[in-house]
Amino acid sequence: MKLKLWLSVLLLVTTVFILYQASTMDTGNIPMNNVSMIRDENVTNTPKYTSPAQRQNMSNCPAIYGKITIVVVGSTKSLEKNYQIAQASLRCYHKSTKYTLRVIDLYKDCRVRTECRHHTQLFFRKHCATAAYLNETDWMLVLDADTAVVNPNHCIEEWIDPRVDLVLYERFFNWEIASGNYLVKNTPFAYDFLKRWAGWEFRARYYVFSGMDNGALQMHVLQTVMPEAYVEATICNQLWSNATDYATYMAYVTCVKVTLGAKRFWPGQIRIYRRAHGWVRDGHVTDHYWCDRDFMMHDYKHNSLSNTPFERDFNLTECGSNSLSGWHWKQGLHIDQETIKIKLRQKERLHAISFPKKGRVFPWLAYSDVGYCWPNCDIDLELIDLMRSQFQVPAPESSACNDSIVS
Ligand SMILES: *[C@@H]1O[C@H](CO)[C@@H](O)[C@H](O)[C@H]1NC(C)=O
Ligand SMILES: *[C@@H]1O[C@H](CO)[C@@H](O)[C@H](O)[C@H]1NC(C)=O
Ligand SMILES: *[C@@H]1O[C@H](CO)[C@@H](O)[C@H](O)[C@H]1NC(C)=O
Ligand SMILES: *[C@@H]1O[C@H](CO)[C@@H](O)[C@H](O)[C@H]1NC(C)=O
Ligand SMILES: *[C@@H]1O[C@H](CO)[C@@H](O)[C@H](O)[C@H]1NC(C)=O
Ligand SMILES: *[C@@H]1O[C@H](CO)[C@@H](O)[C@H](O)[C@H]1NC(C)=O
Ligand SMILES: *[C@@H]1O[C@H](CO)[C@@H](O)[C@H](O)[C@H]1NC(C)=O
Repeated sequence: MKLKLWLSVLLLVTTVFILYQASTMDTGNIPMNNVSMIRDENVTNTPKYTSPAQRQNMSNCPAIYGKITIVVVGSTKSLEKNYQIAQASLRCYHKSTKYTLRVIDLYKDCRVRTECRHHTQLFFRKHCATAAYLNETDWMLVLDADTAVVNPNHCIEEWIDPRVDLVLYERFFNWEIASGNYLVKNTPFAYDFLKRWAGWEFRARYYVFSGMDNGALQMHVLQTVMPEAYVEATICNQLWSNATDYATYMAYVTCVKVTLGAKRFWPGQIRIYRRAHGWVRDGHVTDHYWCDRDFMMHDYKHNSLSNTPFERDFNLTECGSNSLSGWHWKQGLHIDQETIKIKLRQKERLHAISFPKKGRVFPWLAYSDVGYCWPNCDIDLELIDLMRSQFQVPAPESSACNDSIVS
């Protein structure tokens, strides 16, 4: 009898605590989603869309989705100093197209300093900055500074899916949703998504091994596309806040991944490309070998040509519209698709075998999934909406600003 009473008190206290935690998170941009923001008008689950054919012979990229802006965050000086090859390849590619290239300096740019002044952590500030410039374009391709173009014979449109506002991809070696490179459409949903993503800074800073914006992205996607998975999100959040190193962080990533399941397409919202199906993958996955299908490669942090597909430094005066001049690849690294496929297959086995043991979790086995919330674990969406409606994304502040560099 006593035990029963004690248990119910514990249950009550825990439930109140969970709800309290959910409703008193930090000030500023609270990373919860306004479920009613989610767009579902006139979108169906039937994938009727096929992407445009691959660019041929460096021909023009028809602007079928309007204006496209490539955004890189960083100061021009540091980009040239630290990511010389990746940035030169991007500029050479840019000269063969009509896209806009915008370099945003996170600490000098006036619009960012105004709209993102609460964000002190660079990676989170980046997503606030891209949100601040979203209104200047139809689609934005946000790229990490260490992302290089290896094969310019592609248009960005090939990876845009007009049925969604955000296009993400999975990282090859650990199955995580990657944060560094993404496509985003100029819509209120996408703006809201970016601002709330940035807002996770105020939570992640209390975590030992948060994975920064990349860690936040897992939870942010889950809460956005599957708000009903409230219990699972709470469990994954437990794992996240408990993570102390890469292996335990992967337990959190796996928890989110298992909860999302096989679904990678949420009409009107987000599409996530499978590993190696997006416009970019890490170059080392295939030891810098590439095929016609490849477009960009990530993780080119150095300024030396070794461990890149390039034979010599770019000379941008050689680069021009509709031309491959300016592109000097190493002999033998451009191979056929079948051979790339074999390399990917071998690498994926290796990565699976070396995947951290502690990262192999199932949410429902990792932590109580009814014990604390029973008999109210099936929280309805309206209640979640009500809780979330307390949090608001501040409207952008207008100011007389000089905009970031555009070329
Ligand atoms: C949805 O489809 C209907 C019928 O085709 C159309 O009248 C309406 O404008 C569409 N709404 C949006 C938001 O596209
Ligand atoms: C691309 O160029 C090659 C060689 O000049 C030519 O044979 C081919 O037909 C061209 N393809 C297209 C789609 O223009
Ligand atoms: C997180 O750590 C706490 C304290 O060590 C533990 O009680 C809890 O079960 C852990 N949660 C998960 C999901 O591992
Ligand atoms: C770059 O290319 C231009 C045009 O081909 C050439 O005049 C110039 O000397 C080159 N610069 C370097 C540093 O190689
Ligand atoms: C939630 O979204 C709806 C629809 O866009 C909007 O009217 C409402 O103001 C939003 N609420 C909050 C708290 O952001
Ligand atoms: C975008 O918003 C900023 C304010 O943040 C404003 O100054 C700018 O004129 C807007 N641009 C467009 C194209 O609407
Ligand atoms: C904007 O740029 C102009 C010309 O470079 C400069 O004179 C002006 O001071 C700048 N204004 C701001 C607010 O930075």
